[in-house]
Amino acid sequence: MTNPQWTAVDHYFTETIAPADEALTAALADSTAAGLPEIAVAPNQGKLLHLLASIQGARNVLEIGTLGGYSTIWLARALPADGRLITLEYSPAHADVARANIARAGLDKIVEVRTGAALDTLPHLETEGAGPFDLVFIDADKVNNARYVAWALKLSRPGTVIVVDNVVREGRVATPHPDDPAITGTREMFDLIAAEPRLDATALQTVGTKGYDGLLLARVIG
Ligand SMILES: C[S@@+](CC[C@H](N)C(=O)[O-])C[C@H]1O[C@@H](n2cnc3c(N)ncnc32)[C@H](O)[C@@H]1O
Repeated sequence: MTNPQWTAVDHYFTETIAPADEALTAALADSTAAGLPEIAVAPNQGKLLHLLASIQGARNVLEIGTLGGYSTIWLARALPADGRLITLEYSPAHADVARANIARAGLDKIVEVRTGAALDTLPHLETEGAGPFDLVFIDADKVNNARYVAWALKLSRPGTVIVVDNVVREGRVATPHPDDPAITGTREMFDLIAAEPRLDATALQTVGTKGYDGLLLARVIG
């Protein structure tokens, strides 16, 4: 579902207050040239992630779902020089494109791209003591959204911010008995959050260049 007016407004916002630069533009262009799907966050959504990380004073960020590293660049630019961002990506091909994009953006000193299924690589983060993370951005295979939020909680501290992308999916999230595993996974995530006293959360519907979707925002409170 797209709408020319949503797209025009997104372009207006992006051009006025969230302009792209060479590294961001090249990251998208090289991702497309390498055959990656065009499913990165929109520029104004990337800027939102950047602002959330800044507002949070984040120093240690976890991202699940790297693609070509576009959202990674927005997030990493909010970190101090001694900050750290670990991003988890299933596809080695996507991870290679992301590493090149991140290096061109001058962020390879603070960003580490780890390859593998996130449910396999997340336990290593726990073993290594890589947390607690100040902000976790979840944007991978939606069927595992509940498991990723559970992991984010495990690797958190009181005050950690968790953002989950694509939680609306053209309204299908409100379908009580969806036949789409991605929607089932997202609804399991909402059930988990509703039953979890350590999480305070809301979700918003959004429209724009990426169509009709939305995001979940949660804060660890205990
Ligand atoms: C929506 S894209 C991420 C977009 C990126 N966050 C951005 O906005 O630039 C989802 C990514 O998650 C990856 N992915 C899918 N299943 C995964 C898994 N089990 N573990 C880690 N990454 C996975 C996909 O290969 C894809 O690159």
